[in-house]
Amino acid sequence: WPSAALGLTIAVLAIMGSTLAELVQVRTPRAARRRRRGVLETADEVAAAPATGSVRHEAPASALRVENLHVVHATPTGETEVVHGVTLDVAPGEVVGIVGESGSGKSQTVFSVLDLLPATGRATADAIWVGGAEVTHATPKERQALLGRTIGYVPQEPMSNLDPSYTIGHQLIEPLRRTHGLAKAAARQRAREVLLRVGLSDPDRVMRSYPHQVSGGMAQRVLIAGAIAGRPSLLVADEPTTALDVTVQAEVLELLRELQAEYGMALLIVTHNFGVVADICDRVIVMRGGDIVESGAVDDLFAAPTQEYTRELIAASLDEAEGRAALDGRRTEVSA
Ligand SMILES: Nc1ncnc2c1ncn2[C@@H]1O[C@H](COP(=O)(O)OP(=O)(O)OP(=O)(O)O)[C@@H](O)[C@H]1O
Ligand SMILES: [Mg+2]
Repeated sequence: WPSAALGLTIAVLAIMGSTLAELVQVRTPRAARRRRRGVLETADEVAAAPATGSVRHEAPASALRVENLHVVHATPTGETEVVHGVTLDVAPGEVVGIVGESGSGKSQTVFSVLDLLPATGRATADAIWVGGAEVTHATPKERQALLGRTIGYVPQEPMSNLDPSYTIGHQLIEPLRRTHGLAKAAARQRAREVLLRVGLSDPDRVMRSYPHQVSGGMAQRVLIAGAIAGRPSLLVADEPTTALDVTVQAEVLELLRELQAEYGMALLIVTHNFGVVADICDRVIVMRGGDIVESGAVDDLFAAPTQEYTRELIAASLDEAEGRAALDGRRTEVSA
């Protein structure tokens, strides 16, 4: 009995102590300290806060501007240049497609914009502007800080871009806390909001799940949710639907288009499919062998491509679409 009484007294004191600590220390001074450190409590504060770092800011005339970009890779046989002086512009709110055959340098261009080249690669450019800020001479840390904030990135392979050892909730909440300094509750709230927005109707279940417990289409929606969670002004998507089932591809493209319009973001989308370009792009850039060979408004380019190569790419996309339609027709007959 004496031990039980002692135990009970200690438990009561511990509970009282922790309640007092929460009331006295945690709420007021910690919140104030957080604000002094720049930790933001709500998603709205994140949207309103200016970007940090020593990048130069100007009026945002373009969402992205790249001048004379070269990408060089170190290979066992010496250095190889894979992008040879690419210049491109994406206006705020504009949807621009980069098309080209495999190996034409689409991903290398996009990775340079994101500063995500592999260790063997090196990008040099006369100028890179992102969201109205010049980042040509920004440090890797400053460039990294743009990701998830000014630039959202949707990769090609949803599964290999999610970490199998963490829940989806963790993988959405942590970047929001790290990049935006959101408090945990606000980050969780924002993650729920964006998961709902990308069409995942049970966000709590999705957040509790590990990547292997969701489908490929759901995983891509999760990555899109992660990319837009920080309300970027530019969304970059590298073949965002190629790893998905044909029916899911259309839904995911539609979602990207909707989000782009809703958030007023610029969208730079890499694809090898002119059908995708026709569906969602305002302007298209055609690449071959590390160069831009042609670019222009989608309607003009479809009506009168100046390059034989572009005509071939359009014809190949049409063949692919017809082949798929024929296959779908056969499937319908079989099921009938
Ligand atoms: N790590 C690397 N080391 C050396 N060369 C590379 C490396 N990564 C890519 N390349 C080369 O760079 C060129 C452009 O590659 P990139 O990945 O940009 O092509 P892509 O247009 O995205 O093609 P795909 O449609 O197949 O994705 C290719 O010739 C490729 O072989
Ligand atoms: Mg690629």
